Formats: sequence, C-alpha cells, structure tokens
Amino acid sequence: MVIAAKQSPELLDYLLQRRTVEAVNLGEPGPTPDDIERILTAAARVPDHGRMFPWYFLVIEGEARAQIGGVLRKAYPEEDPAAAEAKIDLESEKFLRAPLVIGVISRIRKGRHPMFEQILSAGAACQNLVLAANALGFATHWLSEWYAYNETVREALGLDERDNVAGFISIGTPKKEPVERPRPELSKIVTRWEPGVPPNKGDEYDKEDMGFPVKGFSLP
Ligand SMILES: Cc1cc2nc3c(=O)[nH]c(=O)nc-3n(C[C@H](O)[C@H](O)[C@H](O)COP(=O)(O)O)c2cc1C
Repeated sequence: MVIAAKQSPELLDYLLQRRTVEAVNLGEPGPTPDDIERILTAAARVPDHGRMFPWYFLVIEGEARAQIGGVLRKAYPEEDPAAAEAKIDLESEKFLRAPLVIGVISRIRKGRHPMFEQILSAGAACQNLVLAANALGFATHWLSEWYAYNETVREALGLDERDNVAGFISIGTPKKEPVERPRPELSKIVTRWEPGVPPNKGDEYDKEDMGFPVKGFSLP
C-alpha cells in the first residue's frame, strides 16, 4: 500500500530529524547503479503542474568528476581574478568530494503553466532526490555554489537560457554525524488565517545587510 494511505511513523520521524551532511564529509561507498536508478525514479515523481516534467538530471560520477574539475579550474578565475593557485586547486576539486553528484536542472518548458511553478517543481525534484538517497542510507548535500551560475560551467554542462541549476546534490556515505542547526520558530511563520489578521511573514529572518533586489529576484 502506498504511503499516502498508510501511516509511517518512521518517515515522519526521519523528516523531523533530517540533516544535511557537508560534501567534505561524504565518502565511499556511493550509490550503486541500481540505487541511482531508484533515486532518479523518485526524483522524477514529484508534483508537476501540467505534466511538463520541467527538469532533467546530470549524473556526475567516476572520471566525469575530474573532467568537470578541469572546467572549474578554467572558470574560477572569472569569479576571482586574483585567486591564488592553491585556491583554484581547491575550487576545481568540488566534484571530487563525494562519490556522486547529481545535477538537477530546472528547464522551462513551453506551455501555459507559470515559470514559477515549473521552477518549484524542480525544487521538489531536488528534495525527493535527497530523501530517496537518504532512505537508501546515503547522506546528501544540496549545493549551488558559484559554479551553478558561472557561464563557462553552464556551457560545458550543455545548459541554455531555459536551464538553471536547481541543485548539485552530493551523495555519499557520511563520515561524520551532523549537529543540529537552528530552525525557524513556527509562531513567526505560521498564521491561522482570519479576515483582516496580518500573516506572520517571518520578516525577523530578513538578513540585515540584504536589501532588495535579492540576487535572482525581481519584483513583478
Ligand atoms: C537551492 C539551494 C542551494 C543551496 N546551495 C548551497 C550552497 O551553495 N552552499 C551551502 O553551504 N549550502 C547550500 N544550501 C543549503 C544546504 O543544502 C543545506 O540545506 C543547509 O546546509 C542546511 O542543512 P539542512 O539541510 O540540514 O537543514 C542550498 C540549499 C538550497 C535549497
């Protein structure tokens, strides 16, 4: 029977404790080919308005991790022209930290469904991917980092103007248990809606040094 019709205290318990493990702490073994198939199948099974499947996946493992490293080596000085060689070395090794990285790419499909909803579906694909990998016993780190936005890297990955990196998900066996981090207070972000009562928008969580426009955000 499917989970929606069956209680799963185990799933809820997991969701209430879920934590990222940083990519530097993800080691071998990584997922097997069968595991990867299951993880991708779960990632492709997300809510998606209009059956557009507005995402696709780039599996980066084995030798490909070093090959993309060559691209990062070329691209990093574009971000930081004064970078020392040691820093360029470090940045070029980003895909070598974990045994497997899956890039989830948001692709805007042609159709009448809003772009925003298509992008949200790509975020859902990322989280399903994370949870599926976690359910198989692997830890994960959902990252963007500078290279998700760098033109040289985007081109090497084959991305065009309809594509955006929703996440590079690093996957491996945890070398270290993560410690808990602060979570938002529900009273600051939850409102039992009534007419005329202003919602709790969590504006306490605005970063003081960040004005509008936020990177990647435009007011309608
Ligand atoms: C779209 C997206 C991009 C992210 N990119 C980065 C990143 O580049 N670097 C980073 O340290 N964390 C990044 N994170 C945050 C981590 O994935 C993770 O959520 C965070 O470390 C908190 O840990 P938790 O998952 O245990 O709550 C990103 C999260 C999202 C949703």
